[in-house]
Amino acid sequence: MQIPSHIEEIIRQQSQSGQTLNAYIYDTARLSKRTHCLKNMMPQGVEVFYAMKANPHPAFLEAALKAGVAGIEIASLGEAAKAVNAGFTPEQLIYTGPGKSLEELTWCVNNNIRTIHIESLVEAHRIQNLCTKAGKTQDILLRINANFDIHDAQTTFSGGSKKFGIDEEQLDVALPQILALDKLNFRGLHVFAASGVLKVDDLLHNCELVFELTKRIESQYAGITCDIIDFGGGFGVDYEETGHDFDPQAYADGLAAMITTYHFEGRHFVLELGRWMAAECGWFCTEIIDIKTSRGKKQVICAGGINHFRRPAALSINHPMTIVNLGRDKLFETQESIHQEKVYFGGPLCTSADKLANDVFIEDAHIGDIAVFGLAGAYGLTMSNNDFLSHARPKEIVVGA
Ligand SMILES: Cc1ncc(COP(=O)(O)O)c(C=O)c1O
Repeated sequence: MQIPSHIEEIIRQQSQSGQTLNAYIYDTARLSKRTHCLKNMMPQGVEVFYAMKANPHPAFLEAALKAGVAGIEIASLGEAAKAVNAGFTPEQLIYTGPGKSLEELTWCVNNNIRTIHIESLVEAHRIQNLCTKAGKTQDILLRINANFDIHDAQTTFSGGSKKFGIDEEQLDVALPQILALDKLNFRGLHVFAASGVLKVDDLLHNCELVFELTKRIESQYAGITCDIIDFGGGFGVDYEETGHDFDPQAYADGLAAMITTYHFEGRHFVLELGRWMAAECGWFCTEIIDIKTSRGKKQVICAGGINHFRRPAALSINHPMTIVNLGRDKLFETQESIHQEKVYFGGPLCTSADKLANDVFIEDAHIGDIAVFGLAGAYGLTMSNNDFLSHARPKEIVVGA
């Protein structure tokens, strides 16, 4: 992995402070670029939302706002507050996720968010009651757990028994009940198959299934139109550096052709993207505190572990990484270092689960150097177990801020 020179410069500057370096460095220019690129290439009717769960740092929200995303996909009241603080209006928020509390739904209804994506009949009834009390109606999408999954995706959200949405097979029981709730404006469907998908055809296959489902619903239920179709997120990034990145142009072309085939022009299509927008904007940079050999294998211990960067351990993958050599003085003559070998990287936590990377080939690394993990802008700090062992939070350094 190559680190951009301006990021390496910050790492070197920060390392001179005398403090142990343990930080995320963010450059959100890439998020802006990706947003513009999607807005230009997607067919008419497609709206791009930023799924802020990928990275809720204000700099990411600000960049998304400035680049002109349609809005923010939220999954909690905390996310709603952060989005509004960053300058988004409640009308730009769409809310997906199981287990929305009464307080969360109340805020959404009272503040007129754009759509709530309901995940169960219970949720539908809760919104109906809230709307009745408030004298309002609420636009909703129905989230479906399609009978389809993308096997080689990093995380699947549909197929099998899932906590997300209502099973496709239960639709004929659930939908009439939802349509009978007079305070709910049924606007369409939300079907999100999987996250971290690199093959465009897999995601397009999901689109096709949703289009088929839409056709079936509209022919079966008189007067019902799915005028919003939300495909969730899912665009993957090439963590394993295979050279085969997700091709958004191929996706845009495939979707455009499908919209024409199904005569679905004039509808709204929603993408709620997190990973593809944010991953390339972040580097987790953590100082090598110790190196030792254990039964023939080098163990490299860094300042931050899964408390600050849990993704590699949680998903059993290695992120692309490199070492910034700082040429620091040795503590003693026989101190260990790494030369062209496969090693283990972990953090300072008292659990074997505290893995940053394993069997990763390193050219040259020494105590005091900085291990830099790329594609760490999405699901980095935000999905880590920060409080475990109560280490200080890593710094979050924003380029240009
Ligand atoms: C409902 C929903 N929308 C969007 C996303 C973002 O997905 P991705 O990061 O794959 O784009 C997620 C991720 O978990 C999600 O759960």
